[in-house]
Amino acid sequence: MESINVALESPTLSRMVTPMKPSDFLKNHWEKSKHLVLHGDVQRFYELPGISDVESLENVLAIYKNPVMVVGEAVIEETGGIADRFLVDVSEAREWYEKGAALEFDFSDMFLPQLRSWMGKLKNELQLPPGAGVKAIVYAAKNGGGFKAHFDAYTNFIFHLKGTKTWKLSENKNVVNPVQHYDLVEKPYIPEELSTYWQGEHPEDSLPEADIVNLVPGSFLYLPRGVWHSTSSSEATLSLNITFTHPVWAELLVAEIRSRLVKNEIWRELAVNINFLDEKSKQEVLHKLDTELKKISDNISSIKAEDILTRDSEDFDLYHITQAVFRQSLASKHMY
Ligand SMILES: [Fe+2]
Repeated sequence: MESINVALESPTLSRMVTPMKPSDFLKNHWEKSKHLVLHGDVQRFYELPGISDVESLENVLAIYKNPVMVVGEAVIEETGGIADRFLVDVSEAREWYEKGAALEFDFSDMFLPQLRSWMGKLKNELQLPPGAGVKAIVYAAKNGGGFKAHFDAYTNFIFHLKGTKTWKLSENKNVVNPVQHYDLVEKPYIPEELSTYWQGEHPEDSLPEADIVNLVPGSFLYLPRGVWHSTSSSEATLSLNITFTHPVWAELLVAEIRSRLVKNEIWRELAVNINFLDEKSKQEVLHKLDTELKKISDNISSIKAEDILTRDSEDFDLYHITQAVFRQSLASKHMY
């Protein structure tokens, strides 16, 4: 990651990483995608507006007006092994919690305007492009459970509020800068795109080379994308996660190329499945596309870095966008 201007004021980041200086966090962790664990008094989290609103499960259940994802063994049992997670109405969430399921309150920031305001400031302090996505997720579990080894494609800031949760954190020697999530249980399968930049053998399921860290109330964890991690706990836990999805350069370039192509009506034609065409029609389609491809090479090679940079305010995370709209509409229904 390129060096960013650390001289800017960073009041939100400063509160998050205290006693570390924001400039040291940016230089030694953010730019190097190196995880960070800081322990301290949980009260310092409550100085960040909105966090005190999720300090207990009761508070979360009182403000959250959306379906809740329930995850874990209790769900596997209930579904006869078909699924390990599903969405339930928030009124049923407590019952699932008592049965042992972990509760995931996705997009919690929709119900926490104070949290939302400093999340936006944090995005600026980290100097992320306008198109970067940010959301808050609250996790609650009564008697542990946890997530098996995996890595994510997004950045995570974790504020641990209740109980003790053990995290294993291990350097990723298989991929640099992953753009997708991967669960180690999928081994030896590797999705096609990921396999194009995967190197070496998978780690063992237990992540034997991992740093083992106990998060307790007041612990803060910065988890960059790509770090292998797993979690476990044997007691009631509660944490708030702030996650960022960032567009990568390739996405900005593809957006610029698309904007140039759609000016031409041929590239706006509906694609056909050539397997259903006779040989003559198939050759015609291939010829037409080859002719157009020759024409665009000059146009594409004239793209400058400045053209790509102007694409940085577009929304690239389709999952984030569609979920946010869907959940906003459900939340509004609850209000009437
Ligand atoms: Fe994760």
